[in-house]
Amino acid sequence: MDKYIIEGGRRLCGEVEIQSAKNAVLPLLAAAVLTEGRVVIRSCPRISDVLNMVGILGELGCKTKFEEDALCIDGADAANHEIPAALAKELRSSVFLLGSVVSRFGKARIAYPGGCDIGLRPIDLHLNGLRRLGVRITESGGYIECSCERLRGAEVLLDFPSVGATENLLLAAAVAEGTTVIRNAAKEPEIVDLQNFINRMGGRISGAGSAVIVAEGVKTLHGVEYTPISDRIEAGTFLIACAMCGGSVALKNADAVNIASLVHKLREISCKIRSEDDKIYIECSGKRLSPKIVETSPYPGFPTDLQAQMTALACVCEGATVIVENLFETRFKHVPELIRMGADITVRGRSALVRGVPRLHGADVFASDLRGGAALTLAAISAEGLSSVTDLRFTDRGYSSFEYKLRALGARIRRVRV
Ligand code: EPZ
Repeated sequence: MDKYIIEGGRRLCGEVEIQSAKNAVLPLLAAAVLTEGRVVIRSCPRISDVLNMVGILGELGCKTKFEEDALCIDGADAANHEIPAALAKELRSSVFLLGSVVSRFGKARIAYPGGCDIGLRPIDLHLNGLRRLGVRITESGGYIECSCERLRGAEVLLDFPSVGATENLLLAAAVAEGTTVIRNAAKEPEIVDLQNFINRMGGRISGAGSAVIVAEGVKTLHGVEYTPISDRIEAGTFLIACAMCGGSVALKNADAVNIASLVHKLREISCKIRSEDDKIYIECSGKRLSPKIVETSPYPGFPTDLQAQMTALACVCEGATVIVENLFETRFKHVPELIRMGADITVRGRSALVRGVPRLHGADVFASDLRGGAALTLAAISAEGLSSVTDLRFTDRGYSSFEYKLRALGARIRRVRV
């Protein structure tokens, strides 16, 4: 495995290009199974979650290849409805394939999905929603078996605005017979991107971004060339990096609207942020006041995927901050590692009380999940002294060229094989 060796304490200055959104690209890859036509996803990030999803499409019989930064998918010969356990367990988004594979082949077989170990991550909302669309589902031996001659439209009310369940149901409803209405749908920008992608394929979906999405089922979907939205979580990660280290950074291909909740918090702690076209500019110097409280909630609330990074920032703000993680049960695994760097944090259940300290100091720390790994990397580049951050398999899942981008901004970071 690999680790970062980081000599912290330098300000960040310069420009960084934000990648296409991991959490938009993954459902688009699942949607590519819905058509026999050619699908081209431009500016596709070569992060391991995407590469694993591409591997699954290959197992289904799709032909895939990267042409420079575009991923080309030809699904004409896809015929296998079974998603191999070894790959399904690598990532959460394998579960999205249930909706598209059972739509395409009338059946699907998948092992329970994997993904970051940040909580129980049940899939009951996915399965109950698919049952409403006529899918027969049995679960045995760690596998989920689905079958359905023809999906039919229905009203589905989600107990919780689950991102994945909303996407899975959109993928199934796109070519179902009749109309599907999804109520209490997730409103994330990645859902809007999926709606736009499917509509460019000939689908008829409306309402994404609101709590009620309507899908008029169509008979077939054709191929498409598409550029996904930019990664708001990567953008937020770099904004927080600048807030922690001080400096002046420009983010290219970034949309401040999609991370308005974070921008608001960073302005509260006296960062200067402005946006212009597809760029966000941030300047941070001097003291950082604590944001007092950061509470994660579904979009447009504060994103859970930026909680770990914000916790790291709170460690070096003046005053105390309460961090409340409402989405996942065990998403504070970065806290013990931050404490080893000199942070003052007390966790009780879903809340963490962070008392700011002037500086963190270097330490050898270990990542347990994707966003926790990013948070520890930010802590290390802002800390005084030398750190290592081990097991980069986590950050490699969601950040392309992470160390190159940080180094280009002035951080002293290098990757070594352990
Ligand atoms: C997506 O995960 C993202 N992953 C996550 O990003 C993100 O943290 C999450 O949405 C919330 O925004 C991808 O898009 C690939 P959920 P997902 O279903 O779909 C409960 C990252 O770091 N729930 O909205 O799994 C669940 O337990 C990753 O990029 C059920 O109870 O999230 C959780 O408490 C991490 N039953 C809450 O809903 C279900 O059937 C939110 O989960 C499904 C979910």
